[in-house]
Amino acid sequence: MHANNTAPSIHPEPQSLFLRACLGLEVRRTPVWLMRQAGRYLPEYREVRKLAGDFLSLCKNPELAARVTLQPLQRFELDAAILFSDILVIPEAMGMELHFLEGEGPHFPKPLRRMADLDRLVPPDPRNQLGYVLAAIRTIRQQLPAGMPLIGFSGSPWTLATYMIEGGSSKKFSLIKTLLYNDPEFLEALLDRLVVAVTHYLNAQIDHGVQAVQLFDTWGGILGPDEYKRFSLEPMARIIAGLKRHGSDGVRIPIIVFSKGCGGYLETIASSGCDVIGLDWTMALDQARRQLGPRIALQGNLDPAVLYATPERIRLEVRRVLETLGRQNGHIFNLGHGVEPNMDPDKVQTLIQAVHEISGALRA
Ligand code: CP3
Repeated sequence: MHANNTAPSIHPEPQSLFLRACLGLEVRRTPVWLMRQAGRYLPEYREVRKLAGDFLSLCKNPELAARVTLQPLQRFELDAAILFSDILVIPEAMGMELHFLEGEGPHFPKPLRRMADLDRLVPPDPRNQLGYVLAAIRTIRQQLPAGMPLIGFSGSPWTLATYMIEGGSSKKFSLIKTLLYNDPEFLEALLDRLVVAVTHYLNAQIDHGVQAVQLFDTWGGILGPDEYKRFSLEPMARIIAGLKRHGSDGVRIPIIVFSKGCGGYLETIASSGCDVIGLDWTMALDQARRQLGPRIALQGNLDPAVLYATPERIRLEVRRVLETLGRQNGHIFNLGHGVEPNMDPDKVQTLIQAVHEISGALRA
């Protein structure tokens, strides 16, 4: 089965399990990577963060960012690396002061609230303000084992806008929702700027060697269907339309859209031009496949909280996820959201081994 019949046949097929699964090609077992696979749950990560001083300094140090990108691959049999960075480096590169407060998450002391605030934003040149990310990608590519794919990423314009307007993490999103209904022109003007910034940023990541791209739309799910389409999906679709779709080796660069909490909007997401849809655990993979058919690959979707359970229960839940698609192609195993900072790394090991064993046996 070939899920992406849009992939032109003149382009070579990738070899790696991850890229093959993204394109719906035959694989011998299901590939696996985890959102937040590098992070505080790893003691070796906490060591390097201490060396860097704080989280943002770690992101801005290409050598150290490369080191933590590779850490989970040295421990676990993962099928892809994800660039170590953060989605909020874009607003920072556009001129917004950003702090990560220990235990409290991100904070923008001067959030955006009205049209005039947009005058403070500069359109970032990725080679300039975000040069440290591109340097990290170059270093990671040099250090990654041959054939190991590197995933680049960005926040979606909508998700970035929630932080830029709310000033940090939010529970109710009342400020951005007020603006959405009272001043949609302002919100759209901000989203337009983010579309341009993210498109340039991701194309620069592709030029520097990432082989797949994920759009993190963590907060798409707070929107109703019409608002999701207009304020979250549309900007992502415009980005996707502007991305280079083949690397220097001619292999297609798959685009993954992860809109958390959006299992009800799958057909809308599929219309974005993406190759892969990331699912959280509230939507069954087989139901998604029935809705979408084989043209789009699926990524996910184990509840990260399963990793708090016993090893036996973790293996059982991994089996349940894998058996929902059986031997069908076009599945990348992942969690439905990131690894929690207090997770026991041995549980992650159990999960990854289970994916290898069970999916290999399912296809034998
Ligand atoms: O997945 C990976 O391993 C790659 C690295 C990565 C990070 N953040 C590292 C990080 C990626 C892809 C992100 C994306 C990101 N960042 C998202 C989208 C995905 C999601 O989790 O929903 C969002 C919303 C952010 C914004 C952000 N960054 C928040 C809200 C926080 C604080 C929450 C927390 O866990 O502390 C961060 C900090 C952050 N980003 C950390 C890491 C490893 C923790 C920083 C630390 O204390 O070392």
